Amino acid sequence: MTETTHQVTSRREFLKNTGRIAAATTLAGLVVPRVYAAEDSTLQVALIGCGGRGTGAAADAMSVKQGPVKLVAMADVFEDRVRSSYDHLKGQFANQVDVPQDRQFVGFDSYKQAMDCLNPGDIAIFASPLAFRWVHFGYAVEKGLHVFMEKPITSDAPTSRRMLEQGKQSVAKNLKVGVGLMSRHSRALQQLYDRIRDGAIGDIVTMFAYRMHAPAGSAFVAKRPRDDASELLWQIRNFHSFLWASGGCFSDFYIHVIDHCCWMKDAWPVKAQGLGGRHYREGNDGPCIDQNFDVYSVEYTFADGAKLIADGRCMTGCEQIYKSYALGSKGSAVISTSGDCGPPSTIHDGLGLEKSKMKWESKLPQGEENPYVNEWNDLVDAIRNDKPYNELERGVMASVVTSLGRKAAHTGVEITLEDMLADDFEYAPGADKFTVDSPAPVQADADGKYPIPQPGIITDREY
Ligand SMILES: NC(=O)c1ccc[n+]([C@@H]2O[C@H](COP(=O)([O-])OP(=O)(O)OC[C@H]3O[C@@H](n4cnc5c(N)ncnc54)[C@H](O)[C@@H]3O)[C@@H](O)[C@H]2O)c1
Repeated sequence: MTETTHQVTSRREFLKNTGRIAAATTLAGLVVPRVYAAEDSTLQVALIGCGGRGTGAAADAMSVKQGPVKLVAMADVFEDRVRSSYDHLKGQFANQVDVPQDRQFVGFDSYKQAMDCLNPGDIAIFASPLAFRWVHFGYAVEKGLHVFMEKPITSDAPTSRRMLEQGKQSVAKNLKVGVGLMSRHSRALQQLYDRIRDGAIGDIVTMFAYRMHAPAGSAFVAKRPRDDASELLWQIRNFHSFLWASGGCFSDFYIHVIDHCCWMKDAWPVKAQGLGGRHYREGNDGPCIDQNFDVYSVEYTFADGAKLIADGRCMTGCEQIYKSYALGSKGSAVISTSGDCGPPSTIHDGLGLEKSKMKWESKLPQGEENPYVNEWNDLVDAIRNDKPYNELERGVMASVVTSLGRKAAHTGVEITLEDMLADDFEYAPGADKFTVDSPAPVQADADGKYPIPQPGIITDREY
């Protein structure tokens, strides 16, 4: 849909006000929280997207302290994914997995069928590639379901604006929404956040977020096999290779470290500029045809001039760095020691982060060591006790900020957050109407290669 300048301007105003509006939303007169009668306090769960993380999230759901929780429906676009996920979960949680064949759904509409098995107040899990988040979330809001959705949740501005609107509706309906940015539920990072707010390192001046390792996931794939039936389904299977499906390796891999640095700063950056490139294109199965760069370095700037440098690399044989830290006016802090949010978080005198100058180290409470489990305990606690809990707006903004860095590197121009949010390029238009026969959002050329970013040449969009 083409939007007029007036609409874009109004949107900017709307986006400026989003935080205030969300904060001001009142719960009066809204959907009555579900009453958990003693004889039937079971929370039913439907899993939509039965891959690796979806299966993990369903397992975390069934492990919460405030059960009982039951998995009652599963949906995916691939039958083999439903089956392997079901077998795995049934083996682990025999009494909590109640998903007979007639509640196992396959296809692009399977999300509706799975959610139709739930009652208002139950929980839907979304763990497909991000292109379908707004489609699935819209239906969950309509049906009055609580939601846990995996990160990232958008890769472009139109779907981000759409989801911010849906998020307001979910708040208005008193729905609880968790977004899988599990750093936010790491007790180590929470302790560090409190100390930084108390002034332990003064004002944050610069932060560094690194994720550098060998090629991972489906980010660097070879040409589509000729006998593969559906181009669309093949791209979905290899979603890290396509910006429409995942936001590419930048969004999918780097969002955690970017998001938790912004959290420590207590702000979203106002602009970004970045660089990156494609060095090696030979994969194990032939030349890689994906849309990713294999190195990125993005400089984010906050309103007070502070910087966040986010470096990503998918390359074998190079230094592997996967951590984050912050330098302040009165000291420094390791945010994540290793991985997306690996403890301990520490605070140091000076800027060198030396062990000898460490003056505080996080301590994880027993039973709260795992942020993936914490995020589920926190969500279900909010549902059971009707506490305010809606991470949607924050999840959208973390996704937009990550896309901002990716777009800055892919175009080679500096971009403001405001302009990023006002952009009109939708990467997978009509994702709500996809069928197996729909054309894929990006098409290969005669050599089987897909359009790639060309910084300095294509500067208003990423490809
Ligand atoms: N929080 C984390 O640390 C973390 C870790 C891994 C993955 N993730 C996120 O989880 C999501 C899934 O990643 P994954 O590694 O599990 O990938 P995956 O490929 O293993 O699983 C995705 C599943 O979704 C299915 N799917 C695709 N389109 C669908 C649709 N329209 N409807 C229903 N199902 C559909 C796929 O067939 C597949 O089974 C991604 O957004 C990823 O970024 C988060």
